[in-house]
Amino acid sequence: MCGIFGCVLKEGNAAPLIHSSLKRLEYRGYDSVGIATISEGKIFVKKDMGKIDEVDRIVDLDDMPGSIGIGHTRWATHGAPLKVNSHPHGDCKGEIMVVHNGIIENFLELRAELQNLEHTFVSKTDTEVIPHLIEQTLKNNPKLSLVEAILETLKRVEGSYALAVISTREPDKIICARNESPLVLGIDSNGVYCASDIPAFLPITNKAVMINNGELVILSAKGYEIKKICDSSPVVREPITIEWSPEMAVKQGYPHFMIKEIHEQPETIRNTLRMQDHYLDLLSTFLDRANEVFLVACGTSYHACLAASYMFSKLAFLPTYPVYASEFVEQHGKSVSIDSTILAVSQSGETADTIGSVTCAQQRAATILSLTNVIGSSLTRVSRVYIGTQAGPEIGVAATKTFTSQLSVLAQLALRLAKKRGKVSQDEIDCLEEQLARLPNTVETIVNTQEQKIKEIAKKYKDAKVFFFLGRGISTATAFEGRLKLMEIAYIPAIAFPAGESKHGPISLIEDGFPVVFICPRDETHRTVIGNIMEMKARGAHIIAVIEEGDEDIKSLADDYVEVPKGIPGVLSPIPFVVPLQLLAYYTALAKGCNPDMPRNLAKCVTVK
Ligand code: AGP
Repeated sequence: MCGIFGCVLKEGNAAPLIHSSLKRLEYRGYDSVGIATISEGKIFVKKDMGKIDEVDRIVDLDDMPGSIGIGHTRWATHGAPLKVNSHPHGDCKGEIMVVHNGIIENFLELRAELQNLEHTFVSKTDTEVIPHLIEQTLKNNPKLSLVEAILETLKRVEGSYALAVISTREPDKIICARNESPLVLGIDSNGVYCASDIPAFLPITNKAVMINNGELVILSAKGYEIKKICDSSPVVREPITIEWSPEMAVKQGYPHFMIKEIHEQPETIRNTLRMQDHYLDLLSTFLDRANEVFLVACGTSYHACLAASYMFSKLAFLPTYPVYASEFVEQHGKSVSIDSTILAVSQSGETADTIGSVTCAQQRAATILSLTNVIGSSLTRVSRVYIGTQAGPEIGVAATKTFTSQLSVLAQLALRLAKKRGKVSQDEIDCLEEQLARLPNTVETIVNTQEQKIKEIAKKYKDAKVFFFLGRGISTATAFEGRLKLMEIAYIPAIAFPAGESKHGPISLIEDGFPVVFICPRDETHRTVIGNIMEMKARGAHIIAVIEEGDEDIKSLADDYVEVPKGIPGVLSPIPFVVPLQLLAYYTALAKGCNPDMPRNLAKCVTVK
C-alpha cells in the first residue's frame, strides 16, 4: 500500500504542496519518497529511500519548479526500499514520469517484451513497466495523444493500480487512472488534485470526487474530465463534501486504525493473492528440499506458523515445527544445523526474539527463509529468500490484516508444495485454489453481516472475568489468536487450548456463566467439537460459537453464535474464522473503555528480548 498525490495548480509551486500532502499519506508507506514536477516543458525529479523528513533534509523536496507535479510515498512490495526503486519511475528518455500504488501482476512478461524492444530498466519494480509501455505505444503510433497512449497501455496491464502520469509531450496535464487501488480527486478554486486518500488534500479542500475502478481522469487548468478506460466514454460526476476532520480522514472515517485494518482485510488478502509466482516457487522449492523445517515467530505471527504447520502437513505431507522465537535458541539452538531450514514469520521483520533465533540458526549454517510485511527490514537482510505479505503498514498495535495476509501466503505455499509433491489430487487443489480466491469476498461478507451481532455479544460478556477459546485441529491456532486479541486490547484474562485438551485439566476452571468461544468449521473435527461443547455446557459454560452459516447442530447448543459463509475448507478456515474474533476483541475493548489502537504495556514492534 503506497500513497500517490498529484496537483495541477493555477498559481503557486506544486512541490511544497506535494511534499505536505505526501506527509499526510505517510501512514500508507514510508520507506522511500519522490516528487516529479514539470516546468517550461522539462521534467524535474527528486527521490530517495527513507522517510519523507529524512529525504527532505537531504534533497529539499520543496525546491522544484513548476505548478504541476506528482509524488509518491512507498511501501515496498517489489524491489527493496532503495533509491533506484523509489517512485516516480520514468521512460528511457525521462519524458514520462509515473507514480503508482498497486501490483502489476504481468510485469515480468511486459518487462521482457519491452527489453526486447531495447528499453532499459533501472529498477526492480513492477511499476517501471508503465512509463516504458506508454513510451513504446507512442513510438508505435506517434499520432496518439497522451490520453490515448495511456488508455492503450492500461488495456495491457493486469493487476491493481492507482497511478498518475506527467509527460513533456503534454506538459499542461496529469493523467490518472484507477483499478482496485483507491483514487480520489480534490477540487478547489486554485487547482485540481489526485490522491490515494482524502487526507492528502483535506486541509486544502473538502470537495472530493471519488474515482471508480476502470476510470481514467485528465487533470488540467480546466478542471477534471473522467473517462471509462474500456471505451473512453465520458463519465459525469459532481464533487461531494467531506465532513471528516483531518484526524478522522487518516483513519478513512474509522474511529481507530484497528477497525480500519480489520475492514481492509478483503483488499489486503486480494493483494496477497497477487503474489508473484516466482517468489512462491522459490520459497516452496527450498521447503520441499528441506530435511527439517522450523517455523519461528512470536505472538500473532506464531499463531500463523501454528496454522501453517497443519496446512503443510495436510496438503503437502511436510512436517514442520512451529516454535516460539523466544524459546528457539534454548529448545533447538544446539540441534539446528546445515540440514535445518528456518521459515521466520514477522510482520515488522524487526522482532528481537525472531531476529535472535534466525541469527543463531544462521551461525549453524541453517537455511533462512522469511515472510514479512516490511521489505528491507532486518529479517529480509538475513534471509536467503523472503516474501512480503503486501498488507501495507499496520498501524494498530494488534495484528489483524497482517495475520490473514500471512496465512494467505502460507496457504499458497502449502498448495504449491502439494502440487510439487503430488500428495493431493488436482481436483482437490483446484477446489482449494478456488476457495482461496473467494476468501476476500468471504471476509467482506462476514464483516458486513456479522459486525452488529458481534458488537452485541461483546457488550453481553464485557464484564466476564475470564474467557475460554477452544478449537480442534487447525482451529486451535485460530483459538490461540482469538485469545491473544482479547487479552491484549480488552485486558480480559483468556485461556486457549486444543478443545480435546480441556478434559485434561482446564475444564476444572469452568464455572456457571463462563464464556467459552468455540471455533467450529465444518471440517473433520466438527463432530468431536460438538462433544467438547456439550462437556462445557454441562458445567454451566456459556457457549459462543463461530460456525458455518446454517449449522443447526451447533446453533441448538450455543448461547450465542456468529456465522461465516458455507463451504470454507478446514485447512483455510483460520483466515475467515479469525475475523469474528478480531471484531469481538475490538468491540469488547470499546465496551470496556479501552483504546484498541494503543493497548497498555504493548508496542507494535518488540525490539527487545
Ligand atoms: C499481536 O497482536 C501483537 N502485536 C504481537 O503479539 C506481535 O504479533 C508479535 O510481537 C510479533 O510481531 P512481528 O510479527 O512483527 O514479529
